Amino acid sequence: MLSFSKALFLAGLCAVDAIAIPKNLKGDLYDIGTQEHLFPLLAGSGPYFSHPEDYGIPIDPPAGCEISQIQLLARHGERYPTKSKAAKLFKTWDKILNYPRNLNGSLSFVDEDYEFFIQDISNLEQETTLENSVNAINPYTGEMDAKKHAQEFLAQYGDFLEDNREFAVFAASSKRVHDTAQYFIHSLGDKFNISLNVVSEDPSSGANTLSPGYSCPAWNPDENDDILGNFSTDYLKELATRLNGENHGLNLTTKDAYNLFDWCAYELNARGYSEICNVFTPEELIHYSYYNDLVAYYQDGPGYPMIQAVGALYFNASIKLLQQSEQLDQKVWLSFTHDTDILNYLTTVGLFDNGKDLDPSRIPFTDQVFHKSWMIPQGARVYTQKYQCSNDFFIRYVVNDAVIPLQNCSDGPGFSCEAKKFYEYADQRVASQDFFEVCNVSSVSNTTQLTFFWDWNTTHYNATLLDE
Ligand SMILES: *[C@@H]1O[C@H](CO)[C@@H](O)[C@H](O)[C@H]1NC(C)=O
Ligand SMILES: *[C@@H]1O[C@H](CO)[C@@H](O)[C@H](O)[C@H]1NC(C)=O
Ligand SMILES: *[C@@H]1O[C@H](CO)[C@@H](O)[C@H](O)[C@H]1NC(C)=O
Ligand SMILES: *[C@@H]1O[C@H](CO)[C@@H](O)[C@H](O)[C@H]1NC(C)=O
Ligand SMILES: *[C@@H]1O[C@H](CO)[C@@H](O)[C@H](O)[C@H]1NC(C)=O
Ligand SMILES: *[C@@H]1O[C@H](CO)[C@@H](O)[C@H](O)[C@H]1NC(C)=O
Ligand SMILES: *[C@@H]1O[C@H](CO)[C@@H](O)[C@H](O)[C@H]1NC(C)=O
Ligand SMILES: *[C@@H]1O[C@H](CO)[C@@H](O)[C@H](O)[C@H]1NC(C)=O
Ligand SMILES: *[C@@H]1O[C@H](CO)[C@@H](O)[C@H](O)[C@H]1NC(C)=O
Ligand SMILES: *[C@@H]1O[C@H](CO)[C@@H](O)[C@H](O)[C@H]1NC(C)=O
Repeated sequence: MLSFSKALFLAGLCAVDAIAIPKNLKGDLYDIGTQEHLFPLLAGSGPYFSHPEDYGIPIDPPAGCEISQIQLLARHGERYPTKSKAAKLFKTWDKILNYPRNLNGSLSFVDEDYEFFIQDISNLEQETTLENSVNAINPYTGEMDAKKHAQEFLAQYGDFLEDNREFAVFAASSKRVHDTAQYFIHSLGDKFNISLNVVSEDPSSGANTLSPGYSCPAWNPDENDDILGNFSTDYLKELATRLNGENHGLNLTTKDAYNLFDWCAYELNARGYSEICNVFTPEELIHYSYYNDLVAYYQDGPGYPMIQAVGALYFNASIKLLQQSEQLDQKVWLSFTHDTDILNYLTTVGLFDNGKDLDPSRIPFTDQVFHKSWMIPQGARVYTQKYQCSNDFFIRYVVNDAVIPLQNCSDGPGFSCEAKKFYEYADQRVASQDFFEVCNVSSVSNTTQLTFFWDWNTTHYNATLLDE
C-alpha cells in the first residue's frame, strides 16, 4: 500500500507540530474561502454546504404551530480520506513527487515548498480537527462543523429544548461518527443530560443498526456497472493529457486524473485551501460531479431497487417514533451515521426522486433532482419535524438547512404533510420493503428488529469504536 520511501517520508512529518503554521501555508490566510463555489461539485467528499435550493421556505415552523418531535439523521463531519482512498492518492502523489524535472504549468505549485496534506497516516479515516489540521486556520474541520451545527440546533429549537434537556443520542460505532456526535453533544453545553449510545456497525447487529449497508450481504456494488460504464471518461483523458502536455513524461493516467478530485476535496477538509482544486476546468468538475451522482443513484439510491428495503429500516423506526410522539417522554431523537445509510433512507422516503432514472449518456441539468453532494456532503443533516397547528399534526423534512417538501404531500402549513396523510404516504413507500429478507441478513445475524430507540435504557449500547 505505502512504498518504503513514502512511509519514511511520512514518519518524518509526523513530528511536525500541528498547531505551528508552516511557512508555505501563510498564503492560505488569504486564499481560504475562495473555493467554496467548488464544494457542490466535489461529490460530497469536500466540506459541508447548505442545500443550494431552499424554495424560500423558512425552516422555522409557521406562526402558531408548535414543535412536538424532532428527529435528526446526520453524517459524520469533514474527514481525512479512508485508508483505501489514501492508497490511491499516494500512488498519484508519488508519480508527481518523483517527476525528474521541474513541474510546469498548473502543477508547478508542487515545486514551491508544497507538502502533501496527508502528513500522518494515523489521521486516515478520522474527522479533521483543529489539532490534526495541516494548519491551525482551517475553518472546515469536522470538529468545528459539528460544534457549529449544535449551536445552530440550539438557536433554532431553543424554546422546544427548554423542556427537553435529557435525551439519548445514537451513533454508529465508526470512530469518526462517534466523534461527531461527541463534539455536537459537548457543544450543546452542560444544561443538557445526554446519554450517547454507540450502536455497533458489525454485520452481526443485523437489523438493530444505524448502518444497514454493513448488514446487507446481498448488496452488490457492481450491480449496475453496465450503466455506469457508459459514462464517458473523456473528461479524465482531457485532464491527464493537459497535465502530461505541460510536463512531458509525467504519464498521468485517467485513474490519476480521477484521484486529483479526491485530493482536492480532502485537502480542503484538512487544510482549508487546495492548489490542486485550481487545475480543473469547470467542465471537468461538472462531469466528475455528475459521474458521482450516477454512482450514488445506481449503487445506493433509486436506481437500485433493493435500496428501498435497506432505507425502510430506519424509515420504519422514524415513522414509529412519529406515531408515538405523544406517548414518549423523549421528544428529540438525534442519530449519527454514514453518508450511504442516509442516502438509502432518503431514497425510501422518496424525497429526491422524480421518477426519471439518471442518464449515463448525458447530463440532464434542468431535469435532475438527485444530486449526491447536495444530499450527503460531509456533516449532512436530515431533520424530520413534527409540529402541531391547532388540533392537527404535520410532518416535513429539512435537509441541509432547506425544507424539502414531499412531492406528493405538501399542502400543510409550511409545505408540510398532514400526519394522517403522511402515514398513508409512508405506508406506500415501505410496503413489503423487508430489509431482513431482501438483504439476506440471516446469513450474518439473527437480529430481525431495530430496537435501540426503545431499549437503550435497559440494553447498554457501547460498541467498541472502529477505525474505519
Ligand atoms: C441523566 O439522565 C440519566 C438517564 O439517561 C439519569 O439516570 C440521570 O439521573 C440524569 N442525571 C441528571 C443529573 O439529571
Ligand atoms: C444468502 O445467504 C445464503 C447463506 O449464506 C447464500 O447461500 C445465498 O447465496 C445468499 N443469497 C443472496 C441473494 O445473497
Ligand atoms: C450502454 O451503451 C450501450 C452501447 O452504446 C447501449 O447499447 C446501452 O443501451 C447503454 N446502456 C445504458 C444503460 O445506457
Ligand atoms: C511547459 O509548459 C509549456 C506550455 O504550458 C510547454 O510549452 C513546455 O514545453 C513545458 N515544458 C516542459 C519541460 O514540459
Ligand atoms: C513515461 O512513459 C514513457 C513511455 O512509456 C517512459 O519512457 C517514461 O520513462 C515514463 N516517465 C516516467 C516519469 O515514468
Ligand atoms: C407520487 O404519486 C405518483 C402518482 O400516484 C406516483 O407515481 C409517484 O411514485 C409518487 N411519488 C413518490 C415519491 O412516492
Ligand atoms: C417496514 O414496515 C412495512 C409495513 O409495516 C413492512 O412491510 C416492512 O417489511 C418493514 N420493513 C422493515 C425494514 O422493517
Ligand atoms: C441464527 O440462529 C440459529 C439458531 O439458533 C443459529 O444456528 C445460527 O448460527 C444463527 N445465525 C447467525 C448468523 O447468528
Ligand atoms: C426505559 O424507557 C422506557 C421508554 O421511555 C420507559 O418506559 C422505561 O421506564 C425506562 N426504563 C428504565 C429502566 O428506565
Ligand atoms: C459495554 O457495557 C457492558 C455492560 O456494562 C460491558 O459488559 C461491556 O464490556 C461494555 N463494552 C464496551 C465495549 O465497553
